Amino acid sequence: MILCVSLNPAVDRTLFVERLDGSAILSVQSSTRDAAGKGVNVARTVHKLGGEVRCLGLLGGTSGSYIREVLDSEGIDHAFTPIEQPTRENVKVIADDGQHIEYNEIGPHISDAELGAFKDAFYAQVKANDLVILSGSIPPGVPIGIYGELIDYCNRIKVATILDAAGDLFADALRHGPTIVKPNRHELEQYAHRELSTIREFASVAKKMQSYGIRDILVSLGSEGSILVRGDTTYRVAGLALDVKSVVGAGDAMVAGYAVAFRQFDAITDRLRYASAVAAASCLTEGTRPGDPDQVQAFLKDIKIAA
Ligand SMILES: Nc1ncnc2c1ncn2[C@@H]1O[C@H](COP(=O)(O)OP(=O)(O)OP(=O)(O)O)[C@@H](O)[C@H]1O
Ligand SMILES: [Mg+2]
Repeated sequence: MILCVSLNPAVDRTLFVERLDGSAILSVQSSTRDAAGKGVNVARTVHKLGGEVRCLGLLGGTSGSYIREVLDSEGIDHAFTPIEQPTRENVKVIADDGQHIEYNEIGPHISDAELGAFKDAFYAQVKANDLVILSGSIPPGVPIGIYGELIDYCNRIKVATILDAAGDLFADALRHGPTIVKPNRHELEQYAHRELSTIREFASVAKKMQSYGIRDILVSLGSEGSILVRGDTTYRVAGLALDVKSVVGAGDAMVAGYAVAFRQFDAITDRLRYASAVAAASCLTEGTRPGDPDQVQAFLKDIKIAA
């Protein structure tokens, strides 16, 4: 089972307006509502690829109920811990010319009791042979050390973890030695406290992470593809020339692809090839929608890996 932890999921509202011209009142021509947050995105892609997945995390209020309904309607298993305050809602306003504004809530305040209930649920759910994915931000009230605590537990019972987070949350969790990490270029630069431009520089920062016991360090580089550092080897994957619809969530798709491949293939190059194909396929769909599995299969032969 692949367990996707979403401590701060969100309902994404997208409002379409004619133009953003500074007016105080705008007419909304149409709108959409969707379940979101990195963990939910990952779970959806794993599900679409045929992987066995369950969402864990925190959900509250009518926004939380909405996410449950969406997952139910898609046949995605979940066991969220209920919270008092409502799950956050993010609003994006998009004009006809593509200009947009985003309003992102930081999330509900989580009480100590709620966090305790989540941890108990997590410890009860995680079993040998599971793969745990920890991705995205944490809401107020949840200590920065939470991912580290969950990773420590998984390491104790020998359950593999994939970490995808940013900033201090990433740096803190890293020290606990997750099995796999997937920083993007910006997250790697944040971690290194400097700009990085060459493959050699990306690989050198990634190699330093090995001292924490991290086995696979997958650095995604947007249109430039990715690198994966394992042991003394740096694998380099070139980006595909794509007719891109949206790159939002391409990293989440890559995490989902890597997780599914982790269960299916033993060879690191097969895992990397599959993750890269899933990421590429996600770029051909609107927003964070998962790519088409047939497209993933078609891309597999196009992915070039050099070591
Ligand atoms: N413009 C692009 N052209 C081709 N491939 C792309 C493009 N953008 C992303 N990809 C693929 O998707 C992978 C992940 O992309 P990226 O590095 O942008 O992730 P990210 O910043 O973590 O995304 P997010 O957090 O929004 O999910 C890349 O390694 C690459 O394989
Ligand atoms: Mg990302």
